[in-house]
Amino acid sequence: MFNLNQHKLLIASHNEGKINEFRELLKLLMIDISSSKELKLPEPIEDGNTFEENALIKAKSASNLSNLISLSDDSGIEIDALNGQPGIYSARWAGPNRDFNLAMREVIKLLDDKKVPVSDRTARFVCALCLFYPSGEYHFFVGKVEGLVVWPPRGKYGFGYDAIFKPLNMNKTFGEITSDEKHSWAPSKVGLSHRAKAFAKLVSYLSQRKK
Ligand code: IMP
Repeated sequence: MFNLNQHKLLIASHNEGKINEFRELLKLLMIDISSSKELKLPEPIEDGNTFEENALIKAKSASNLSNLISLSDDSGIEIDALNGQPGIYSARWAGPNRDFNLAMREVIKLLDDKKVPVSDRTARFVCALCLFYPSGEYHFFVGKVEGLVVWPPRGKYGFGYDAIFKPLNMNKTFGEITSDEKHSWAPSKVGLSHRAKAFAKLVSYLSQRKK
C-alpha cells in the first residue's frame, strides 16, 4: 500500500511562517519535506471562494509543476461581527508588504466603528489542508479554533493575526504562547490551533491509508 514515508512531500506555500509551522507539525512523521518557496515554483492565483477551493488551487498547482505529493494550507481569521471578514482575504488585508500591523489595525478600526462590545468580538481561525497526489486524487482536512479578538496586540510569538487572537478558555493570545503551546499537538491529541487540528485529521487519515 502507499506509504508517504517513502516519498518527498512538497509544502505548497511561499509563506515562511507557515512553512515553519508545517515543518514542526510534520516532524513526528519524519518525512522528507521541501517547499514551493525552496523550489522557486510560481505562486498560483488564489481566486477560489472558500478556504478549501484556495487550498486545492495551491496544492494542485504545486503537484502538477513538481510531480510530487503536495500539501497546502489555506487559512485565515473569520470575525463574526464583520460577517466573517477578512476570511479568505486575511493575507490580502496586510497589503503588498504583508504588513500585519496594518491588517490588525484595520480589524480593530472596523470593530470600533461598528461599536462592537469587547465581549462580542468573537472570531475563529480556520485551516483547510489539501493533500494532492500526482494522480489527481485529493483530500481536505479542516480545523477551527474559536476565540475573541482583543486589543492592543499582545506577545512576541507567531505571525499574522496571532497577537490579537485569544482562544476561548485561555488568558493569553496566540502571540503570547510558544508554537508548541499553540499547537499542543501529538499524534494522539486533537491540538489547540486550527492548523494542529487539521493536521491531527491528516495524520489520522495517513495512518489509516498505510494499513
Ligand atoms: P493564506 O492561507 O496564505 O492565504 O494566508 C492566510 C493568512 O491568514 C495568513 O497570512 C495570516 O495572516 C492569517 N493566518 C492564518 N493562520 C494564522 C495563524 O495561525 N496565526 C495568525 N494568522 C494566521
